[in-house]
This record gives sequence, C-alpha cells and structure tokens, in this order.
Amino acid sequence: MPEPIGPEAVLEKKRRFLLPCLHHFYRRPPQIVRGAGLWLEDHEGRRYLDGFAGVSVLAVGHSHPRVVEAVRRQVGELAHTTTIYLTQPMVDLAERLAEWLPDPLGRSFFCASGSEANEGAVLAAQLATGRRELLALDRGLHGRTKLGMSLTGLGMWRADDTPVGGVHHVPTPYCHRCPLRLSHPSCGLACADEIHEVIRFRTAGQVAAMIVEPVLGNGGIIVPPEGWLERVREILDLHGILLIADEVQTGFGRTGRRFGFQHSAVVPDVVTVAKALGGGLPIAAFVATDAVADAFDRPSASTFGGNLVSCAAAHAVLDVIEEEGLIERSARVGAHFRERLDSLATRFPVLGDVRGLGLMLGAEIVDSDGRPDPERLDDLLESLKDSGILAGKTGADRNVLTFQPPLLFGEEEVDLVVRTLESCLSGLPNHDARR
Ligand SMILES: Cc1ncc(COP(=O)(O)O)c(C=O)c1O
Repeated sequence: MPEPIGPEAVLEKKRRFLLPCLHHFYRRPPQIVRGAGLWLEDHEGRRYLDGFAGVSVLAVGHSHPRVVEAVRRQVGELAHTTTIYLTQPMVDLAERLAEWLPDPLGRSFFCASGSEANEGAVLAAQLATGRRELLALDRGLHGRTKLGMSLTGLGMWRADDTPVGGVHHVPTPYCHRCPLRLSHPSCGLACADEIHEVIRFRTAGQVAAMIVEPVLGNGGIIVPPEGWLERVREILDLHGILLIADEVQTGFGRTGRRFGFQHSAVVPDVVTVAKALGGGLPIAAFVATDAVADAFDRPSASTFGGNLVSCAAAHAVLDVIEEEGLIERSARVGAHFRERLDSLATRFPVLGDVRGLGLMLGAEIVDSDGRPDPERLDDLLESLKDSGILAGKTGADRNVLTFQPPLLFGEEEVDLVVRTLESCLSGLPNHDARR
C-alpha cells in the first residue's frame, strides 16, 4: 500500500481527476485507510465506529476473517472465467439464494451492481408479461443507470432530465409526512388505493411490474404501514402486474428478517439483491419465480456476473450471518437502538421522527417548527464524526440521520453511539438563533 497522502491531497486529486457528481460526506472528511470489524481508521490512526457500513454493505463488518480467507483462497486459485464456462461457486450461490428465499422464488441471474439487478428484474418482468410500463414509488431509489434513474423518484438522484418513458410514480407510504395529508390508520391505506387510480387513469393499461423497496433507504428510512404491501399486491393482482422487491439495502437481515418483504405476508415475483451479499466485493442478482425466469430465454450475459471471487465472498458472508445468528441479532439490537433513540427524541425535539426496522434506523432532524433541517444534520454528522462515530444521511430533504451499521453491532456499540449522539445534540448550535 502507498503511504497515505492525506485528505487535502485526496480532495485535490478528486477535484482534478474525477467528476464533480461524486459528493462526499463531511466538511472536513478523513482519509479512511483501514477497516476491521466495526471500526474504520483514518490516515492518522483515528478510529471511527462505523454506523453506516458503506451504505448497508458491510453486514459482517470490515475485513471479516472468513471473507478475507475465502477471497484469498479463490483469487489464488481462479479469479475469473465469465459464464461461458462451467464453474461451481455461482450455481451453489444460486441454490443458496433459493434456500434463503421462500418458494416460488428460486431462479437467479448474477451481475455486479444493484442498478444492473433492477434493470434485469424489470426486463424479466417485461418479457414475462409482454408489457412495458412500470410503477415505482416517488421516494424510491433504484439505481444510477438510465432505467434505474428513471425508476428513481427522488429528484436529487435524477441527474438525467430525459428519463425513459412508461414509468409512473405513485405516492410513497410515508406516514410522518403523508403525501395525501391523512393520518394512519384512519386513512384506510388511501395511498395504496391511489395506485389503483394511477393504473386506471394514467397508464395505457400495459403495466408489467411495480418495483418497491420494502423499507425505503435513500428515501429516508421509510417503513410502510402494516397492511400496505398486502393491499398493493391485491391491486397489482387485479391488473396482472408483477411485484419486484428491491432488497438491495434491506436484504440479508438488515431489517431483522431475512428480507424486508418478510415483514408482510406478500411474496414478490422477483427480488433484487446486492450490497451486503458480497461483504464489500461487487455482486448482485435478481431472483425470480419459474414463471418469470422461463420467459427470459434469449441470450444474455454479464462479464462479472457470478464472478468466482465475489461468489466466494458471498458464501462466506452467508455462512457468517447464519452461524452467528445475525438476523436475530439485527432484530434484537435494532429494537434496543430504536428504544434508545425514541427516548432521546423525548428530550431533544430536533429529533423529529424516529423510525426503522432492525438495524436500519432513521431520525428526522427538524427545526423548531418541525420542518426538515438538513443544515443541522450536517452539523450533527460532522460533530459525530469528530467524536468517532460515522452515521449516514438520507431523505428527499437530506435531513434523516441514518444508522445502518454492520449486523455485528451489539448493545454496547449502540449505547456508545447514543451517548455520543446525546452529547453532540447538547453541543449543537441553536440554528434559529444562528440565523
Ligand atoms: C434500494 C437501492 N436499489 C438500488 C441501488 C443501486 O445499487 P448500485 O449502487 O449497486 O448500483 C441502491 C444504491 O444505493 C439502492 O439503495
């Protein structure tokens, strides 16, 4: 490894040689050089407890010895062939995904990123239905490819102003700031019923699929109310529309269940996975039912799809999650985290709404009138980082303090985060006075 050049020099190279679209967190960002377990280290040896896990990726922590060993062994033996030759790790992984998912989900296509997995899932749904139109939530995020961006509802992630046609956005079930100005449960899930109206009046009646994040990540850790996904499924079924669950963030125990959709009684037709599966190596897949998979029989390939090293890492990640009971741990530790954040919110009105499932938690940062206060969140993230805690930022208004730590987080780490958060909140400048 070369000697670290320091954050100033990294920033200078970033400005000169990368695109300006690549934003980073923090006004004074550290140069991260090392990771082990729950901790990251910067070029000066300062340590940070990782509360964001590379955006929901490092489920088993940084450089887990099992993942490191699996990668080392595979890369030394055979790193790459692509799918034109027969190799075993990919078919074993597909078998394993079929075991992890409920029937009838069991047929996989591997690729390298969540965006690609969503593109593939949509194409499979279009081939299976013979239709082309799509539905997506207006606060969802599904990728940065042309179609991924077109499916994405969040304005800030739609740099492309000529999205593909045939995508219809529907209201997000966001109870804290209901798009229909109603309250749950007296609303009777009116936002789901709105989907029926969109299908009837705004589409050409040729909708292939609806894509949904079971808990919206970039949208601001939005958990749909109970019964919402079931109602959506009923509506889609009425019109013969398939359901794609984008589990890129929520998969593999993040929400305290194997997959986010398992907080409902619904089984989607296609599930997409990425992020956590590779333990830091790039791997993604869509997993479909036989009915959908069988319709995708024209030749397709992905050079790095099913890459041997990524598959070896994925097997090690799944081994660790299974053997160390990380899904149950995510539910248990997440509930403790949620309780501690809820209790903090009673004392600090700046925490507007605390929400989430398992170790996917968010807290809205608001001003004294309850409006989103992204500037205050930036102050808070900076002071958390300076105190050795890394957290995330999500939401259409960029005001949701977000925690998606490795699933190896324990009560002890949660308590450290909450204690630090408390002291950072106490030291936050009063924004209203500052203006
Ligand atoms: C829910 C969701 N879907 C898809 C994507 C795109 O994944 P990738 O960046 O691997 O292409 C993301 C990325 O953050 C995501 O959060």
